[in-house]
Amino acid sequence: MTPIQETIINKKTNNSPIWLMRQAGRYLPEFREIRKLNPNFINLCLNVNLSSEITLQPLKRFDLDAAIIFSDILMIPYGLNQKIEFKRDFGPQLGSLDLDDLSNVDQVDFIEKLYPVYKSIKKVSENNLIKNKNVIGFVGAPWTLLVYMINKHSPKKELIKDFFKDEFLINRILIILEKFLKLHIDQQIKSGATVIQIFDSWAGLLEEKDLPNYVYIPTLNLVDYVKSLNVPVICFPRGVKNYKNYCDIVKPDAVNIDYDVNPVSICKEINIPIQGGLDPKILLTNKENLKKEARRYLDAFKDHPYIFNLGHGVLPQTDPNMVDYLVKMVKDY
Ligand code: CP3
Repeated sequence: MTPIQETIINKKTNNSPIWLMRQAGRYLPEFREIRKLNPNFINLCLNVNLSSEITLQPLKRFDLDAAIIFSDILMIPYGLNQKIEFKRDFGPQLGSLDLDDLSNVDQVDFIEKLYPVYKSIKKVSENNLIKNKNVIGFVGAPWTLLVYMINKHSPKKELIKDFFKDEFLINRILIILEKFLKLHIDQQIKSGATVIQIFDSWAGLLEEKDLPNYVYIPTLNLVDYVKSLNVPVICFPRGVKNYKNYCDIVKPDAVNIDYDVNPVSICKEINIPIQGGLDPKILLTNKENLKKEARRYLDAFKDHPYIFNLGHGVLPQTDPNMVDYLVKMVKDY
């Protein structure tokens, strides 16, 4: 068993495996070099040689316990034929959405469009650097994908005013997303992903009353599906106010917390394995502060199954030496 499986399945404490969200990305000069020559982000994700190389870049530098595949949650709208472009200094920009077109997407065509992602996972999982480590496959939760597909760009702090106007449309899209997300999960696992993480980055935009329909039920269906394939599933409902409710209802195998969650109190509230929490901005300060803040999490989770990670992705302005320091410090704890 890998250290991450020991923590999630055997509930082992005190072994602190570590990986970082966005560990393969813009803070690495070797990534920026490849990115500069590949201005189209989607095409880069679909380039098997490059996406597998980028996935492994952080593992060549740091003793991380997992590789997360270099792809994006928005490869799903791409696979469903909604136009998408990643614009510099703006982020993703999606095209118009037609329910009839969406309802007619063929499963075989979808898999064919995303086939390079699966080939890349296979390539990564066969690499020697992965020995006794996990390959993390992932999807966006239906709610978060719906936000991008209807809003067409990042909602930053709030949703467009008439987001909930067409409930029929919303419910239809959620059902379609569920079907294709299961397919995407299944293909990733068949290709070598040994853990699945579900990112619900915009769960925090919803009021409590809307969580059951838009977050709990659609995510629970995916969690049950991953469990039926005998692979551990980690959920990250960023910004939800009540992580305990979420865990009681959705029942993931582990939950990633955001940096607003107090590690000492969450430890008492939730009894499933916990991942993450450290504010990625701490990596922009200094080693002394990083050590102090990382210890706050390691101390709080001393007797709780815990995977070290952040409360959101590594920021582009992060110094790789700080990541190196963090990984070594967690391993030596
Ligand atoms: O290293 C990894 O974590 C694996 C790869 C990964 C990416 N995106 C690559 C990426 C993963 C797991 C994601 C998930 C993702 N993508 C989420 C969920 C996590 C979160 O950040 O909340 C979301 C919401 C997206 C959608 C997305 N992708 C946005 C809003 C943006 C633009 C803003 C940004 O953060 O850069 C992206 C682009 C993106 N995805 C980049 C990378 C490395 C940057 C691309 C570039 O080089 O410009």
